[in-house]
Order: sequence, then structure tokens, then C-alpha cells
Amino acid sequence: MNVLLVFDSRSGNTDQIARAIASRLEKLGSVRVFAANDHPSGIQLRGVELLVVGGPTQAHGVSHPLRAWLDDLPDAALEGFLAAAFDTRFQVPALLSGSAARGIAKTLRRKGARLVAPPESFFVAGSEGPLQPGEIDRAGAWADTIAAEATRTRAKRGSGF
Ligand SMILES: Cc1cc2nc3c(=O)[nH]c(=O)nc-3n(C[C@H](O)[C@H](O)[C@H](O)COP(=O)(O)O)c2cc1C
Repeated sequence: MNVLLVFDSRSGNTDQIARAIASRLEKLGSVRVFAANDHPSGIQLRGVELLVVGGPTQAHGVSHPLRAWLDDLPDAALEGFLAAAFDTRFQVPALLSGSAARGIAKTLRRKGARLVAPPESFFVAGSEGPLQPGEIDRAGAWADTIAAEATRTRAKRGSGF
């Protein structure tokens, strides 16, 4: 399966989570990992089957570089894609903290993707981190559930179900 992971990270915490997820998804096949703001000329989407997008929760929502990348995707650009969204944030109820993952997921769906898992959050101990203990392992486990669901969905599609 052709996997693309796009992330934003200001202080490196989401970067660590993104790399843990990407490394676990390698069992699916090719995995490309890009920071959203490193590629102003655009990230190639052709051939992508599973798109995973994550970023830090900032001001209750999606960070500017990631929002800009998402908003630049043409309408229906993600038609036929499987997708998943994650964020990093403070460990308080999402009603108080906000959640970038929810905003990311909404945009991914709006542009045509089908989510293979609910948006997920990974927690930091302070604005600049570090990640709370165990979060890297939890990210790996989350990646496993995405991989399993993506494989199942693709098999169903392949059988014309
Ligand atoms: C400008 C700014 C605004 C933030 N706003 C929120 C917020 O609304 N809710 C929250 O849970 N965390 C908030 N945070 C904490 C970030 O979510 C945390 O810094 C992030 O998870 C770190 O990820 P990074 O190292 O990848 O940048 C904010 C951090 C910054 C720097």
C-alpha cells in the first residue's frame, strides 16, 4: 500500500509521533513522510492509498502551516483515499483544549477521503513537550489499528463489496 504521512511540528513532539506512526506503517509498503511547510511547491498525491495527517493543536485548532496545506488541496482531491488524522495537545478534555485532529479529519472527509479510524490525540506535558510517557508506544499501537483497518477496507473494495 502506498502511504503518505504529512505533519506539522513546531517543537518536535508531533514529529516524533509522526515518525513512530510512519515506521509502524512500513509493514504496509512504501511510506513517505513530509513536513507540511517544507514543501511549498506541493506534495505529490498521485498513487497514494492511505493518507495520514497530524499536527500540534494550536489555539484550539489546526496549526497555520498544516491548515494552509489542507486548504490548498483541490476539492475532491482525496476522492478514493483512505485517511487518518492525529494531533498532539494537552491532556484535558477536548472540549477545553480543542483538537487539531478533529479539524484535520473534517477537512480530509470534505475533500473526499474515507477515515479508517476516529481522530486521535497524543499528549504533551507542556507547550514545548516533552511527550507524556508511553505516547510513542501508543502512537505505534494506533498505527497498527490504522494498518489493519486500511488493509480490511482495501480488501473489501478489491472484492467489489
Ligand atoms: C501558540 C500555541 C498554542 C497552543 N494552543 C493549544 C490549545 O489550544 N490546546 C492544546 O491542547 N494545546 C495547545 N498548545 C500546546 C500544543 O498542542 C503543543 O505545544 C504541541 O502539542 C507541541 O507539538 P509540537 O512539538 O509538534 O509543536 C499550544 C501551543 C502553542 C505553541
